[in-house]
Amino acid sequence: MRQKYVAGFLTFMMMAVFVLSACGTDKEKANEKAVENTGATKKNQVVNVFTARHYDIDFSMFDEFEKQTGIVVNEIKGTAEELVERMKREGASSEADLFITVDGGVLDYAKSNGVLQKIESEVVNGNVPAKLRDKDNNWVGVATRARVIAYAKDRVKPEQLSTYEALTEEQWKGKVLVRSSSNLYNQSLVASLIALNGEEQTQQWANGMVANFARTPDGGDRDQAKAVVAGLGDVAIMNTYYVGQMLNSKDAEEVKVAQNIGIFFPNQETTGAHLNISGIGLAAHAKNKDNAIKLIEFMTGKEGQEMLTNASFEFPVNEKAEVPALLKEWGEFKTQELDYAKLSEFNKKATELMNKAAWK
Ligand code: FE2
Repeated sequence: MRQKYVAGFLTFMMMAVFVLSACGTDKEKANEKAVENTGATKKNQVVNVFTARHYDIDFSMFDEFEKQTGIVVNEIKGTAEELVERMKREGASSEADLFITVDGGVLDYAKSNGVLQKIESEVVNGNVPAKLRDKDNNWVGVATRARVIAYAKDRVKPEQLSTYEALTEEQWKGKVLVRSSSNLYNQSLVASLIALNGEEQTQQWANGMVANFARTPDGGDRDQAKAVVAGLGDVAIMNTYYVGQMLNSKDAEEVKVAQNIGIFFPNQETTGAHLNISGIGLAAHAKNKDNAIKLIEFMTGKEGQEMLTNASFEFPVNEKAEVPALLKEWGEFKTQELDYAKLSEFNKKATELMNKAAWK
């Protein structure tokens, strides 16, 4: 039992390191409100958010919530690992009311460590479809991104593309770009393939991918898109929201890169495109539970969802929310049907399997 825990913890340490690095390119906002002593404020007018998402828009949303409700949002930042460990260590005396992070596997890790509790709100249940919530409602999704295939518009016809699995075909020899195996987005993608196709088939896939790599993995998702446009390779695996952010970037080169790549949603005839979910969990010992639930309701409500996704270019979880125009242009797509707990369950296996394939 203890050994199992240690192994799980080590796996999580690795995952958590990359949650932070996954967000490393997103500019962090100086957070003057990340205070830990909330004693000066009336208890019922505060909500303490432990967050591993480091995006400006999250901060703006908390600000808007504060304006609308008068409830002060204290943002306490850290890696997902640090925050979960702190919640565990502090137990019943924890200040945490909410926990926010990217990745379903990490959300499941928080749940399985007992730092979350059931969110009881009919409003939230109406805002977020059941497939984007934890089955015990310990956390609910706030936004998603798809991990898709970006391709060089001038060299690749979308008809040549079909599935993640087909990227191992001969036609893509020396043309596939993707970031390193230490990245959580890739670990979760591979974990999802293990869950859907089995370990053996996924090992062969990883071997085939490495055999088709255009180069040793280097840089983040944006760098893969840049490499496609620079002609280093023809296809890249990347998250959709980076494309939206690049198209709207102040950096002219990023805009040009995003204009020259096409977005292909893979596995539409089979298992669906892989989704990366960000979510919010209710802390097990939340002292401001009502305020916490109000913030979840705001973040998953139509207005909150539109505010969030128009800035982050993530997909809303609330079907009533207007999808940002760019994302709407890409059209509807089929997603993997998968219990997010599988992503944490198979994380270690995914990493081992990529290492075996010499996926750097
Ligand atoms: Fe990211």
